[in-house]
Amino acid sequence: MLRRNRRLRTNDSIRSLVRENQLTPNDFQAPLFIVEGKGVKQEIASMPGYFRYSLDLLKKEVQELWSLGIKSVLLFVKVEENLKDNKGTEAINPDGLMQRAVKTVKDILPEMIVMTDVAMDPYSEFGHDGIIEKGQVLNDPSVEVLAKMALSHAVAGADFVAPSDMMDGRILAMRNILEENGYTNTGIMSYSAKYASAFYGPFRDALDSAPVDAKDIPKDKKTYQMDPSNRDEAIKETLMDIEEGADIVMVKPGLCYLDIVRDIKNNVNVPISVYQVSGEYAMIKAASERGWLDHDAVVMEQLTAIKRAGADFIATYFAKHAAQVIQK
Ligand code: PBG
Repeated sequence: MLRRNRRLRTNDSIRSLVRENQLTPNDFQAPLFIVEGKGVKQEIASMPGYFRYSLDLLKKEVQELWSLGIKSVLLFVKVEENLKDNKGTEAINPDGLMQRAVKTVKDILPEMIVMTDVAMDPYSEFGHDGIIEKGQVLNDPSVEVLAKMALSHAVAGADFVAPSDMMDGRILAMRNILEENGYTNTGIMSYSAKYASAFYGPFRDALDSAPVDAKDIPKDKKTYQMDPSNRDEAIKETLMDIEEGADIVMVKPGLCYLDIVRDIKNNVNVPISVYQVSGEYAMIKAASERGWLDHDAVVMEQLTAIKRAGADFIATYFAKHAAQVIQK
């Protein structure tokens, strides 16, 4: 035998030396759920160990993340029921929870990159990412609201806006409104290849944002989010978002879509983020609680696999924990 591959696996030292991908805290972005109130830290039932924070407690959380080397957060808000409507009115309130959350984080940690979720579902009485009329999620009127929402996040101080709605033409509308108002340095991270996935359930619990079960309300998001069967379409969506002005593109969810991550990596020259979503978090928690999987080993293996597939960074509910595991 002239070539023995096992030589390069003899011990940890040689394995470390030839390792192709290594996770660091720079690879992680932490999604954060925010609620109104004071001193509120609520665990999400379907996401054990993950919490919603009120603004006062959010400060401590982001400081902890920063001290672990995590340099970016992705903000989501749980909107009070009485503020929801079919037009996203509260979404563009300059003093809304999201706008205050952005200021809170930038005030205490100006270097923390703050990205904001731009989508109507947390603000929608029907739990959809757009305005609904006659059983349809309207595209262009929704894009108008989304663009205004993006601008209001930029005014509040967001570094990047992150549209997660999958309406057509929203990136161009956002880039235009940001440019017209002088926010030339505010970036756009587009959820460009976002699939109509069954893995978002726990997130919808966290924000109480699931589509409502009612007459003339679509039961799912399949008319705007992508069909999990499609691969070429992900490249089409992503290239269009880049043309329209996206600085960073995204594939979501993570693990089931790593072929898409690699396709996109091979086709574009902008950074790619991957969102390891709530259902992926919940699966690992549930199985490891039962003693069926080794929690930390599985977390690190999945995150490594996402990076190996081509992610430049990963939005993950394990951000803090994985950074702690790396530090050990
Ligand atoms: C909605 C949005 C969703 C997620 C991020 N933004 C859910 C959905 O599309 O219904 C899911 C994230 C997760 O599951 O962790 N705009």
